[in-house]
Amino acid sequence: MINIQEKISLKAYNTFGIDVKAKHFVTMSSTAEIIEFCSKHLKDYQKHLILGGGSNILFTKDFDGIVVKIENKSIEIIEEDEKHVFVKAAAGEIWDELAKYCVMRNYGGIENLSNIPGTVGAAPVQNIGAYGVEFKDAFVQLEAIEIITGKTQTFSKNECEFGYRKSIFKDRLKGRYVITSVVLRLTKHPVLSTEYGSIKEELSKMNITDPGIHDIRQAVINIRSAKLPDPDIIGNAGSFFKNPVVENKKLESLKQRYPGIPSYKQDENNVKLAAGWLIDQCGWKGKSIGNAGVHKDQALVIVNHGDASGKEILSLADNIRDSVFEKFRIQLTPEVNIV
Ligand code: EPU
Repeated sequence: MINIQEKISLKAYNTFGIDVKAKHFVTMSSTAEIIEFCSKHLKDYQKHLILGGGSNILFTKDFDGIVVKIENKSIEIIEEDEKHVFVKAAAGEIWDELAKYCVMRNYGGIENLSNIPGTVGAAPVQNIGAYGVEFKDAFVQLEAIEIITGKTQTFSKNECEFGYRKSIFKDRLKGRYVITSVVLRLTKHPVLSTEYGSIKEELSKMNITDPGIHDIRQAVINIRSAKLPDPDIIGNAGSFFKNPVVENKKLESLKQRYPGIPSYKQDENNVKLAAGWLIDQCGWKGKSIGNAGVHKDQALVIVNHGDASGKEILSLADNIRDSVFEKFRIQLTPEVNIV
């Protein structure tokens, strides 16, 4: 039974723990319900918001429309050969349940993406990434409903237009589709991705010389829990800003003043800088304005110390953005969706 609720607090549905209200709220617990509701009725609402785990969103005001919370669940192997296995997962699955499922069976590909909060359906929207791996690396295709026509469509990897923390669903097709499932290709003979510095360090701390994917998962869990605040304890949405991409010559001029500046090659002409480092250099780590604060161990993470409003969080973010611009002449852009 589809039950549309009214004037519902979204506090429990966003990891920042912001207390705003949705005019209408509905939970979809099966794919059949999503198809029924989203293909026939969703277009009748003036405004809608598709919500997964609410782990990459900042609400700054009440939502004057319908929030559709996706909770369909299933993980199944749909095809396999000697080398690969194709796993289909419902959009409402918890991402880390899928990561755990794959690691437990020794299917390699997403172990570096362990412990990322959020749902499977949200993973392609922003092409989640961590420790040298991105969601798109294992991605094959997804199914989504086009709201306006009610038709189910398949999107291939090319069609999703994945980039750094982005896809067509965060860009050109924003708000037009509801993702119902994704298919990933995992490998039965995992090739480990350990080039990201802190993974190597953590493995050696763990005294592991010949790691398997379960060791990588454990290393990632250790690093993440040491650096990133647990949203069940302190409200946050992971990295608040994207790491900025700048031209090589900008890096060269910064290096003269800041020889230790971290950078990652992006292509021949551009490098990615660490937004966390830039913010840290501005002295923000551990600082607060009212109830909004900068995490003490990772300057890229903004936290809700108590009952911060979305506007308070946003105002801190604006202050951070201004000071990074003033010091480095670099414009940070939010990674979190601001609603
Ligand atoms: N750094 C500082 N001070 C800080 C934070 C970072 O000096 O307060 C330095 C670190 O020492 C390091 C560099 O900045 O040299 C990069 O830091 P880190 O390895 O922690 O990663 P990040 O670039 O801050 C990105 C992702 C994370 C992901 C990690 C690991 C983005 C926006 N963030 O963070 O993703 O877990 O790499 O791959 O790309 C997320 O998207 O929510 C997220 C947590």
